[in-house]
Order: sequence, then structure tokens, then C-alpha cells
Amino acid sequence: MATYDIDAVREQLLERVARSESPREVLRAPELKELYGAIGSLDPAERGVFGKSVNELKLAIEAAIEAKEESAADAAVVPLDVTAPWDTTGGPIELLRTSQGSQHPLTVELERVVDIFTRMGFQAIESRQIDDDFHMFGSLNFPDDHPARDGYDTFRTEEGFIPPAHTSTMQHRILKDGRDKLEKGESIAAISYGRVFRNEDVDATHEHTFYQVEGVFVSETATLGDMLGTLRSFFEAYYGQQLKIKTQPAYFPFVEPGLEFAIEKPAALGGKPGEWLEMLGCGMIHPNVLEAAGIDAKKYRGFAWGGGVERLVMLKYGIEDLRHFESAKLKFLRKFA
Ligand code: DAH
Repeated sequence: MATYDIDAVREQLLERVARSESPREVLRAPELKELYGAIGSLDPAERGVFGKSVNELKLAIEAAIEAKEESAADAAVVPLDVTAPWDTTGGPIELLRTSQGSQHPLTVELERVVDIFTRMGFQAIESRQIDDDFHMFGSLNFPDDHPARDGYDTFRTEEGFIPPAHTSTMQHRILKDGRDKLEKGESIAAISYGRVFRNEDVDATHEHTFYQVEGVFVSETATLGDMLGTLRSFFEAYYGQQLKIKTQPAYFPFVEPGLEFAIEKPAALGGKPGEWLEMLGCGMIHPNVLEAAGIDAKKYRGFAWGGGVERLVMLKYGIEDLRHFESAKLKFLRKFA
């Protein structure tokens, strides 16, 4: 009987994978065929062990091929500046639309969210990725040294700049910019969306970097009922079906009353009746927040909300681990391409 040196064949074939332009062809190598052919001619006593080693050899070659294909795909990605701001009117985002890449699932879903709110009459602006203590806390009615600040533990540069822990940092700017509208008898209606950062121990449901969408509405007559109707309409549009909603009281210094807003997990997405998912925080804007932006809180009232984008997307597609989004794993990303 001929003897077969599986280790030598492995070495040769792996080298061929490394050198080849189309590494998948190595799976059809005559050496491999010969080894498979030999299995049948062996004594039954030897067959098991030999067959197993041949199989392991094939698996090792397949793994090497996959690794090579993956790194070739990575190398083919067009380099782009991920820190550049983007908009929906033809900014750097166009760079992503090449034959080789696709938009990140969060980009796609964020565009859907923005689209729904702009159709409802909200202006949309991207949130800042570096901010200061005033916008992060002071303008939002967090007193100095108040323990509520602990819930927004984020990073800080030596100069005192803050990568914001929530998109609520945009509220003061939206309110100040909208003052003129109120004086003309119009309402303020805006959303702000973007990346936020927290000092977290990362696990399947916590990330140091994630996305939020914030909404602000102010008029002479805005009510809590208007807010619940607006949010329900948004969620029903996003999930394409009717939903049950519920709220419970929650504390946020910038709203009074403050609420947590939940939807019943739709049966179509694997939910059971009575299974509630908390989607965001919301409430009537605190008079101090309106006054800090120069808006007369006796005359005007408003509501605001803010929540995570990943949570929306995870429910929609049954994604179980938040870390996939920032992982840059092509296997994950291609499912959405
Ligand atoms: N900024 C809050 C957070 O990240 C969420 C939030 C709660 C935003 C209530 C709001 C609000 O606008 O009214 O936890």
C-alpha cells in the first residue's frame, strides 16, 4: 500500500492557497482527490483515522481560503474618512455607493428614521461629536455636581471637551435657533441624530459608541398627547404595522414630567403579548431648559424625546449582539448589502 504524507500535502496546498489568485481552485487539487480516493482502499481498521485526517486537511484549506477571500475583500474597500460628517443630499456618503461596498446597516436605517420624521414635518440635523459641559449638562437643567450627571458617564479631553453621551446636547441649539419661528407663530420641530459615546463595560447590550435620535417640538399648545401620537406614528411607520404603546414615569432633569416609552414587541418579530420593550426617554421640556434658550416658558410649551438607533434596528432584524455594528465584520455587513 502506498503511504500518504498528509502533513506534506497540507503544507503544499496551503502555500498554493497563499500564492493563488483564485484560491478556491485549490480545493480541486489532484493531491486532495488522491487522498480521498485512497480512503476506500484502506483496511477498515485504518480507514477511520485516515479519513478524519483527510477531512481535517480539507477544513484547514477551506479556512485558509476564507481568510484570504475576506482580506482581499477588505483590501478592496474604498478608503474613506469615517469621521467626516455626512448628509442625505450628496455629501461624502456617495463614496460608499461603489460596486464594491454597501452602506452600513445603521446608515441605511438612520436614513429611514430621518425620512419618516422629515415627512412628518421635522427638520433633521446631525448631532455634534464633540461638545462642552454647558450643552451636555448646564443647558439641560443638570445642576453642578448633581448625581443625575453620573448616568451620562462619558469621556473628556484635557481641555474639557466632551464626546457627548446623548443627543440631548443638541436641544439648546435647536431651541435657540427656533426662537424666531415661535415669534412668527410657527412651531419648532426638529430631530437631531448621530453618534454618542459612553464609558461602558462593553457587552451584548452596551457599547462605548452608539447612535441616538433626539426630537424637539415647541409651540403654544403642544401636549403630552401630541407627543405620544407623534411617537406612535413614528414606530408604526418604521415597523410597518400597528403597535401598542405604554409609558411609565422616569426622571430626566430636562423634562417634567419625564417618561419611558415602550412598545409591545410585535408578534411578527417574535414577540408574545405583554412583552414590552422600552424604546426611549421622553417628556415635556422643563421650563428651565426653555428659559435657558430665551424662550418664554409661560407662553410656549414643548416635548422632547431621545433613544438609541441600534435598539430599533436590532428588533427589526432580530440582531442579538450590539457589538456587531461596530465590529466591521464583513460577514455581518454583507447580510445587509
Ligand atoms: N438623553 C436621554 C438618554 O440618553 C434620553 C432622553 C430622555 C431624551 C428624555 C429626551 C428626553 O429628550 O426628553 O438617556
